[in-house]
Amino acid sequence: MRKITVPEVRATKTNGRKFTLITCYDYTTVTIVEKSDIEMILVGDSLGMTMLGYDGTVGVTPDDIINYGKAVRRDAPTTFIIGDMPFGYYNESIEQGIHTANRFMREIGCDCIKLEGGIRSAAVVKAIVDAGIPVCGHIGLTPQSSSNMGGFKVQGKSMDAVEALLADAKAIEAAGAFVILIEGVPRSVCKYIRENINTPIIGIGAGSDCEGQCLIMHDMLGYTEWVPKFAKKYANLGPQILDAFNTFHQEVVDGAFPTPEYSYNTKVEGLE
Ligand code: KIV
Repeated sequence: MRKITVPEVRATKTNGRKFTLITCYDYTTVTIVEKSDIEMILVGDSLGMTMLGYDGTVGVTPDDIINYGKAVRRDAPTTFIIGDMPFGYYNESIEQGIHTANRFMREIGCDCIKLEGGIRSAAVVKAIVDAGIPVCGHIGLTPQSSSNMGGFKVQGKSMDAVEALLADAKAIEAAGAFVILIEGVPRSVCKYIRENINTPIIGIGAGSDCEGQCLIMHDMLGYTEWVPKFAKKYANLGPQILDAFNTFHQEVVDGAFPTPEYSYNTKVEGLE
């Protein structure tokens, strides 16, 4: 498969093509993603929770994203990779934002960066785009500001909030983002925004009126029992992995593993 390009993503706004994005953070898994039809990978700051066990994304650093991102890039030559800018590394100044984005492009070799925020991030988005780096916006439920939102809460639940979201989308669009990720909003809200901007939308928990759809890999593979309402489990790996661990333990205790089939059976002269 050939890697999707920024112009091809932009074109999805008018040509009806749908595409998919999943998070991925490690080499072994990316070898499977690369064989699949999924067009895009997000090396997301959600790795703070899925890989590092934090209770949010705020503690994630650029080095975290870069280390995981490099592992992902190593076996994903034809998958479009988005590097996720962590909290505190693009909100101090425009120079800081460009610096972090440059590091991601050069050290990970990603295809674009993503950052959170609408109007409040428009100036830094414009500066990064002007520096020649493609930007994916991210509005709606923005996990880096979940404290402001009172937690991981669905956004856009009043007409004022909907108009504010549309203003955010327009600001990011005017700043030059080639695609906007909208997270955690009622599907009618995403549809309304989509009808009023010219930039394609990737939705996560935003309904079906989007050009692209995103899921967190650990949710869609069913590693955990609880997943957010919007996350469909396409596999149920958690129970399967637990079963494998317990079967291994039981077979060792029972003496059923390892059999000669799983042993080196070389005859050592003089030993027997
Ligand atoms: O970090 C991440 O995985 C994200 C998704 C929630 C879109 O930003």
